[in-house]
Amino acid sequence: MENRTMEAVVISSFGNPEVLQIEHRPIPAPQGNEVLVKVYAAGINRPDVIQRKGLYPAPPDAPQDIPGMEIAGIIEACGPSVTKWKVGDAVCALIQGGGYAQYAIAQSGQCLPVPDGFSFAEAASLPETVFTVWHNVFRLGKLKKEDHFLVHGGSSGIGITAIQLVKAFGSTVFATAGTDEKCNACETLGATRCINYKSQDFEKELKSEGIDVILDMVGGSYIAKKIRLLHEEGRLVFITGRHHHAVFINTMKGSKPYPDDLPDFGLVMRKRLTISGSTLRNRDTAFKEALTEEILVNAWPKIESEAFKPVIFAEFPLESAHLAHQLMESSAHIGKIVLTNTW
Ligand SMILES: NC(=O)c1ccc[n+]([C@@H]2O[C@H](COP(=O)([O-])OP(=O)(O)OC[C@H]3O[C@@H](n4cnc5c(N)ncnc54)[C@H](OP(=O)(O)O)[C@@H]3O)[C@@H](O)[C@H]2O)c1
Repeated sequence: MENRTMEAVVISSFGNPEVLQIEHRPIPAPQGNEVLVKVYAAGINRPDVIQRKGLYPAPPDAPQDIPGMEIAGIIEACGPSVTKWKVGDAVCALIQGGGYAQYAIAQSGQCLPVPDGFSFAEAASLPETVFTVWHNVFRLGKLKKEDHFLVHGGSSGIGITAIQLVKAFGSTVFATAGTDEKCNACETLGATRCINYKSQDFEKELKSEGIDVILDMVGGSYIAKKIRLLHEEGRLVFITGRHHHAVFINTMKGSKPYPDDLPDFGLVMRKRLTISGSTLRNRDTAFKEALTEEILVNAWPKIESEAFKPVIFAEFPLESAHLAHQLMESSAHIGKIVLTNTW
């Protein structure tokens, strides 16, 4: 295996999508608890785009210039300590990096079985968003069945998983998105209501309902609104530090311009709100393996049930990774974008 090479998409230099180029690299050899996966599909996530721009370095134990944090495929070889899986098993996995390739290394404790009836593309679309949603909404956000939940970017990869998983656990879901088409898709997936933030003020629209848990990938001037919107003991969980819509929201009819609409921390005290957040990629293997176990027991049965449908917006071959990134940056997609390998 050591002498064989594979095709991989590398970030040849930081910049626009065209910096993603195919190179031949040695097929990595699995050590210890690692497995080598023959990759049939790799999910694309917004953090890959940020990595490509040079603003989100890969962790030290990941391939530095091959993006890709989630894959699905067949185990080709096992490290000497692997007991959970065997050669030939079909898995999807959350990985440290290196997913945009024909082969990738995964920790055996971060692999999950490909759900029954799912294609490799569908399975590859799951790990990053399921792990993120599970940790931030269910663990940090302590979501309860009777809670009202709000996710911004409802049609994003994270959004479509959040809507469906939260709905599957019986809570009421609200979402925001940037077009009516995206809003319709969110409602079809299970949101009671999705608000087009470009034409309506979500705070005004959701005021009478109130919200208990918010998954926040927007930040900016939304923060003040969310603090007002949350019920007593509400939880606001951040998954991005980049506040995309701050400028846009400035111009939104009826909304106060940021930074004048400052968060009222008196309200945080009076309503006993919890503000939290997390990043997944920099957490250690022990944390991710524990999360994998928890997801396998709690979330996987919902994902394998009728309640959850993967939403693949587009598939691209490895050599068109730049087109996949262009699409993601256009934000025209609804759901996930996936790279596929034909074997
Ligand atoms: N903390 C963590 O562990 C973690 C893990 C994974 C992802 N994330 C974050 O979660 C967010 C969603 O990730 P994803 O992979 O689901 O992305 P995605 O599918 O590309 O969705 C991002 C959504 O944000 C809106 N958006 C508009 N302009 C944007 C811009 N310049 N940059 C980013 N988003 C923009 C778009 O919705 P509208 O058209 O409705 O505006 C788009 O649907 C990202 O901010 C990502 O960094 C965090």
